[in-house]
Amino acid sequence: MNLKGKTALVTGGAHRVGKILSLALAEAGVNVIIHYGSSQSAARQTEAEIQQKGVRAWLIQADLADLKGLEGLVEQAWQLNPFQILVNNAAIFEALSWNQVRLEDWQRHLSINLTAPFLISQAFARKLNGQEGRIVNILDWRALRPVDDHLPYTISKAALAALTRSLAVALAPTITVNGLALGAILPPSDGGDLEAAIQSVPAGRWAQAEEVGRALIYLVGGATYTTGEILHVDGGRHLI
Ligand SMILES: NC(=O)c1ccc[n+]([C@@H]2O[C@H](COP(=O)([O-])OP(=O)(O)OC[C@H]3O[C@@H](n4cnc5c(N)ncnc54)[C@H](OP(=O)(O)O)[C@@H]3O)[C@@H](O)[C@H]2O)c1
Repeated sequence: MNLKGKTALVTGGAHRVGKILSLALAEAGVNVIIHYGSSQSAARQTEAEIQQKGVRAWLIQADLADLKGLEGLVEQAWQLNPFQILVNNAAIFEALSWNQVRLEDWQRHLSINLTAPFLISQAFARKLNGQEGRIVNILDWRALRPVDDHLPYTISKAALAALTRSLAVALAPTITVNGLALGAILPPSDGGDLEAAIQSVPAGRWAQAEEVGRALIYLVGGATYTTGEILHVDGGRHLI
């Protein structure tokens, strides 16, 4: 896909990984519709940085836990500008092991991390109505190498990986659906031991923003014969 002049919707695009992805798209000449939940001022800042790169940017607010509102979110985004690229980035990541999980924790993770990307992708594919499109689901090395901490998160991402492959088949040949499985990109915003977090990373370091951006641009701009693929950008973390 020639990216110049195309438009993308990035969920959770205001800050952190979503901002890295939004800026990488803008750098490649893609207009960006930045979805945010509660981070309005960060969204405005990212909007300004995108515009400085010479492309257009819009903001759209929605709580992804409100599943009934998601068709409306896609309609609203489409009215701002029809888009050809969808990046399902927004997610929650809570440190809950199996014995701590309450029903509402389980349902919240599945709603935001799995059901919302599905409903947004479904509405997007209907809007495209046979035109060429790209969907990238942001996954985690944990999706394919489960661990006990962050259990509902891990299950939601494993299911999103399965959804990525199923939708790749369902939406072919016009829409490719791929996953970007991330590792140590940015430390959780609630802190943590930065050294310990990379002890199990063969690359021995945190990722650079450009490494994530380049992978996304490959999946949306260069991977014309690749669908249902899960590209790990995790310094080898999923291998050990
Ligand atoms: N950080 C890493 O190193 C890393 C590693 C592996 C995978 N990932 C994946 O990369 C993606 C982004 O990670 P991150 O670290 O940037 O996450 P983060 O800092 O926790 O940010 C989460 C994003 O999701 C949005 N969001 C969450 N719940 C929402 C809701 N109910 N409604 C609307 N928006 C909601 C937030 O929007 P608002 O702030 O506007 O509410 C925010 O933009 C996730 O899919 C994550 O699983 C990240």
